[in-house]
Amino acid sequence: MKFASRASRVAGSATLAVLKAAGALRARGVDVVDFGPGEPDFTTPAFVKRAAIDAIEANFTKYTDTSGIPELREAIAARYRAEWSAPYTASEVLVTAGGKQALHTACLALFEEGDEVLVPSPYWVSFPEMVTLAGAKSVFVPTNAASGFRLTAADVARAATPATRGIIVNTPNNPTGAVMEPAEVEGVVRLAASRGWTVLFDECYDRFVFEGRHLSAASFAREFPETVLVAGTLSKTYAMTGWRVGFAAGPKALIDLMNRIVGHATSNVCSITQQAALAALTRPDESEPAVEGMLKEYARRREYLIPALNALPGVTCAPPGGAFYAFPDVSAHYGRVLGGVPVTGSESFAKALLETVAVAVTPGVAFGEDRCVRLSFATSRARIEEGISRLARVLAV
Ligand SMILES: Cc1ncc(COP(=O)(O)O)c(C=O)c1O
Repeated sequence: MKFASRASRVAGSATLAVLKAAGALRARGVDVVDFGPGEPDFTTPAFVKRAAIDAIEANFTKYTDTSGIPELREAIAARYRAEWSAPYTASEVLVTAGGKQALHTACLALFEEGDEVLVPSPYWVSFPEMVTLAGAKSVFVPTNAASGFRLTAADVARAATPATRGIIVNTPNNPTGAVMEPAEVEGVVRLAASRGWTVLFDECYDRFVFEGRHLSAASFAREFPETVLVAGTLSKTYAMTGWRVGFAAGPKALIDLMNRIVGHATSNVCSITQQAALAALTRPDESEPAVEGMLKEYARRREYLIPALNALPGVTCAPPGGAFYAFPDVSAHYGRVLGGVPVTGSESFAKALLETVAVAVTPGVAFGEDRCVRLSFATSRARIEEGISRLARVLAV
């Protein structure tokens, strides 16, 4: 069979590979402590589920507008007007199958062969592949542990080339948890505006901030209406990963083009999901306590996990400002043999942990940083404690 070269250039998802290996062990009856999942371990709030059931019972089961039901688009726009003074209306919003579809479709609409797209590193695994699928080339913008992996406008300016057409910024960041300084968000937007680039601003973890302050690039949409496209999701905020609902908000011409692409690809997000999303976004009396509760619990786990990681031999971990990931540097163990596995990088390190103490972590190489591994703390405190005690056993010198 002959496949398109476009497809063969795309890498498989390393995060999914870890889930698979951990799943295979579990199927054999092994008690795996799983730090892999990039999704909340909470359930979708009851009132959101109820809204979906009501939608089914009211036969709200037909096609909707490709771009999403007007009430939902308006609810998203209203939130951006209220929180960030962004001049968005429903026609500047596209409802998508998660933040992922928003970003993927934006790449298809904006980039092509010969274009370069800046991707700050470490990066979420899908960013470079989305750029590749659009036919463009990723140019990585390195950030480092010493500065808490916080991206600056100066980092971006250094990496730019004449072929740069855009940048994908993710804050709070997966995998590092870094929250950009508000002044740097502004700096990146101003730089992009001055060079005619588009900023794809992925704020899928915007509600999960422990330290620092999140600033949405949408705050600059009034001043630079053509520069910023924000991508958001209900997946993390309302523990709705499986429902598949997120959105893009930005310049109307770009949103219209993305709408045209989606119209020939997937059409509307599930009608029932859209009613559930509408409830989540428009009933703050019910949704806010749920979101606050999750944030508090993540914060408690982080309080325990980060010092516990730093107390392990050969492990250093900067406290994540947001999201629900720790991204420790474990490279002091490279060159050792752990549980019979020679460790040469993050992949063999993760393999050693899985095989010797049944702890699943995601190799940092998948995110462009081989010295680190990612641990999700979207898992219970008891499991985190169990995981730490197993790590202490295998990492003891
Ligand atoms: C940085 C980042 N952006 C976007 C997404 C997309 O999530 P979804 O498509 O479920 O909204 C994820 C999910 O893990 C993510 O980590």
